Amino acid sequence: MTETVGEWVAAARRIAVLTGAGISAESGVPTFRDAQTGLWAKFRPEDLATEDAFRARPSVVWDWYLSRREMIGRVAPNAGHLALAAFQARHPGRLTLITQNVDGLHQRAGSEGVLALHGNIFEDKWLDPPRACCRLEAAVPGSPPHCPQCGNRLRPAVVWFGEMLAQDVLAAAERASQACDLMLVIGTSGVVYPAAGLARSVPRGAKVVVINPEPTELDDAAHAVLRGKAAELLPDLLRI
Ligand code: APR
Repeated sequence: MTETVGEWVAAARRIAVLTGAGISAESGVPTFRDAQTGLWAKFRPEDLATEDAFRARPSVVWDWYLSRREMIGRVAPNAGHLALAAFQARHPGRLTLITQNVDGLHQRAGSEGVLALHGNIFEDKWLDPPRACCRLEAAVPGSPPHCPQCGNRLRPAVVWFGEMLAQDVLAAAERASQACDLMLVIGTSGVVYPAAGLARSVPRGAKVVVINPEPTELDDAAHAVLRGKAAELLPDLLRI
């Protein structure tokens, strides 16, 4: 099957790639739905990554993101991220990378024009609409940092459960999905929408390939399922 998919890659003129937490697993970033460890074991990510959770327990949620930032800062892109970036460099304009990940590892691997549907964990934004006094560089450090004048708090610039995606990023991802002749769905459980819906929006005749060691909610949309790890399969699949 890997050989057939390799032929599809070689033949495809426009490839859309949708990645999820699984592509970063081999870098050492625990996937979102993996059990949390240590201090965080008693929380479910779904109960931390919401605006309500942040308003109810701002320092708990801020510190959780801080710990994730520190952990992600210590790891490096793996062979899967690098294979995608190298393919893009060898074939300019042929591959659009759409990711649900907020870890920035695709960008660090050198991928261009990454459509980060769920934002960037290393950036902050204001919790409430910023007033004239709210300046990022003047925020008072804390857990979370806040505006010294009005008390508005900083939060990570990621998309929380129940929030809208940035409409321009989503629209670009939809355009790439609707124009592709091959979509690779890598390392995502396919349970979170609208991201997962992209795999179902490819044109008639386009091929969808799921790359994942475990069954996913998108397997039924796939023309081929490669059961394996991203960092092991991608270098070979994308070697042309
Ligand atoms: N290679 C490929 N896939 C892997 C690997 C690997 N080495 N290791 C694990 N996986 C797969 C798992 O089998 C699982 O299907 O990665 C997937 C990770 O799924 P989730 O943890 O649900 O992550 P994801 O699909 O990215 O979540 C989507 O949900 O929580 C929100 O905003 C968050 O962006 C996230 C979104």
